[in-house]
Order: sequence, then C-alpha cells, then structure tokens
Amino acid sequence: MILRSLLCVFTLITINKGQLTYKESSDCPGNLKWNPNGITIMGGDKDNYFSFPSGLFIEPKTQILYVSDVSYNYVLKRYPNGKIQVAAGQSDHRSGSTSDKLDGPKGVYADENENVYVSDWSNQRIQLWEKGAKRGSTVAGNGMRGDALTEFSYPSNVIVDSHKNILVSDLENQRITQWPPTYDPKNTTGIIVAGGHGAGIAPPQLYSPVGLYFDQTANNLYIANEEAHTVIQWNRDGYGDKVVYAGIPGRPGNTSVQLQSPQGITLDRYGNLYITDCDNHRIQMFCPNSVFGITIVGTGHMGSGSNQLYFPRDVAFDADMNLYVTDTYNQRIQKFERIH
Ligand SMILES: *[C@@H]1O[C@H](CO)[C@@H](O)[C@H](O)[C@H]1NC(C)=O
Ligand SMILES: *[C@@H]1O[C@H](CO)[C@@H](O)[C@H](O)[C@H]1NC(C)=O
Repeated sequence: MILRSLLCVFTLITINKGQLTYKESSDCPGNLKWNPNGITIMGGDKDNYFSFPSGLFIEPKTQILYVSDVSYNYVLKRYPNGKIQVAAGQSDHRSGSTSDKLDGPKGVYADENENVYVSDWSNQRIQLWEKGAKRGSTVAGNGMRGDALTEFSYPSNVIVDSHKNILVSDLENQRITQWPPTYDPKNTTGIIVAGGHGAGIAPPQLYSPVGLYFDQTANNLYIANEEAHTVIQWNRDGYGDKVVYAGIPGRPGNTSVQLQSPQGITLDRYGNLYITDCDNHRIQMFCPNSVFGITIVGTGHMGSGSNQLYFPRDVAFDADMNLYVTDTYNQRIQKFERIH
C-alpha cells in the first residue's frame, strides 16, 4: 500500500512535466473569468438564515438556489426574484427524526418541480420533501446506522440521475450507493457503484467521500474524497476505470497540484471541474485533464473580506455562469459574478 501510494505520486509528477501549465481560468475551454470580490446574497450580517450552511444546489430549469444548514436543521430555497422559503425541515431549527424534521442535513438536490432531496446526516436516511410539503418521506436508507445495503453510516451527499436513480455518498461506509426511484421500506437496497473496500488511497478505495457529480453523457462519476485530499473520476462503463483527477492521494497541501479536505464539486459544460478546497479557503478550477488547479476565488487565507472565504463547503453555478459558494464559517452565501 505504501509502495502503491508512492507510485501514485511519482506518476502524477511525471505527468506534470509533460503538461501545459494553465495560469488563468480564461486559458481553459469556455474562456471564463470571475470577479474575485463576492457579493453576499444571503446570510453574513444581513440576516440570521444560517449557522452552518453546507450543501448548495441551483436547479438548472427554475434557477432556484437551495442551501442546507447542518446546525439549523433545514433547507432554504431562494427564488431568482430573491424570495426565500423553507424547503425542508422546521423554520425554528428544531431537529428530530420524525418525518417533519431533519437532523444535520448536508447534501441537497432538487428537481424542476421543486421536490428536494436531502441527505439527512444524523438520521441515516435520504428524505424527499415535495414542493410545499410539511413533512418528508424516506427514499433511501432505513434510518439505522450500519453497513448493510439497506443502511448508511452518515450520508454526506445526494444527487439524482435522469432516470431518477438516487446516488448517495455514504461517508463512513466509504462507498457510493445507488438507489431505485421507488422505495419500499421493507426491501429497497442500494447497490455499490464505487468504493466499499474500506478507507484508503488505493485505487478501488474511497476515503470519506463527500462531493459528488455525475456526468451522465460520459458516464463519469466524480467523487471528492475529503480525507484522501483528491477528486476521483470513476467511469461507470465496463470495468469502472478510476483516475485521480485532482489532488495527490494522502498528501494535503496548498500548491496548485494539491487540495486540502475537498468538499463540494461541480463540472461545467466545457468539462472544467470546480472544487471547494475547504481547508485552503479557496475554489479551485481544473481544466479538462489538467493536474494544475487555478484559484478562481479566495486568497488561500481564511477571512471575511469580499475576496476571502472561511472553510467553504460547496459550489454551484447559475445559468449565466455566476459562481455561488457556501462560505460556511462566514455563515453566508457568496456570489462571484462572471466578468467574461
Ligand atoms: C420487494 O419485494 C417485492 C415482493 O417480493 C418484489 O416484487 C420487489 O421487486 C422487491 N423490490 C425490491 C426493490 O427489491
Ligand atoms: C501555503 O502553505 C505554506 C506552508 O504551510 C504557508 O507558509 C503559506 O502561507 C501557504 N500559502 C497560502 C497562500 O496559504
């Protein structure tokens, strides 16, 4: 295993030498650039919406922005006109395991009909809150913590594919499981689509999977491994080839080839990958097949200035490619406008 990890590092460094070094985001496909100074659109000192904002999702058709708050035990939604509502959980922040409550919600995903999927972290389940519902229903997990295929051990994130299959980062089980669109509490089980071989940095393993992105066209699943400090690309065709797409396994750091506790991720239509590099307080952009990341937001040092982040957790884009970040320790949602 040690030999294997050394080999991994060696391979990456070798690739570095032959690779074009990108310096600016505008050198990447799409020629994109953002204002490094953000605007607070929710939270901060403006209101008391957040205590520990975590998951962030912008639904492409409706452009509604969804944010989960782990400590306030709810999911808020913000319409493009600025109106804000509770989409799941209780407005008074009460936690619980009944169907009208959440306990430490982390990941959030929504469809165009404003139905919201939430990874209900401490309740070991995925909840679906339909538009306007006063309670949710379980769509994955049986609420017990464990490693059976009916169970989760701290689900950190949830996404849904175009066939309405539900994909879940099952953090302490070190695996990603896929669940069918219809749920029967007695016999619905997940199937393992990645990991499930214990925590580690060997190719078949995951190490605290958090961020998830599924590129359905290429059939590639991208997984951020918080404790391996990497993002892996996991091809779901054939034998399921995996490559370390960003970061050096087991080597956290703040150079352009490294990450430190990566969290939420997203991919744009040009194939550029964006990573919430949490412990480096920055957002990194990786052009297709580049091992060098470009810092597009954040200075690398924690802070509350408009160009700074403080343990950011997730990242999303609106239709105009403006960038949004859950700036968790600043308890705010920052918007970074695209300038070209
Ligand atoms: C649950 O059990 C029923 C009856 O045995 C079966 O028809 C159905 O396919 C099962 N569902 C799943 C998801 O296993
Ligand atoms: C990167 O890490 C080094 C060594 O820990 C530190 O001295 C430096 O300030 C860091 N740079 C940034 C931008 O955080």
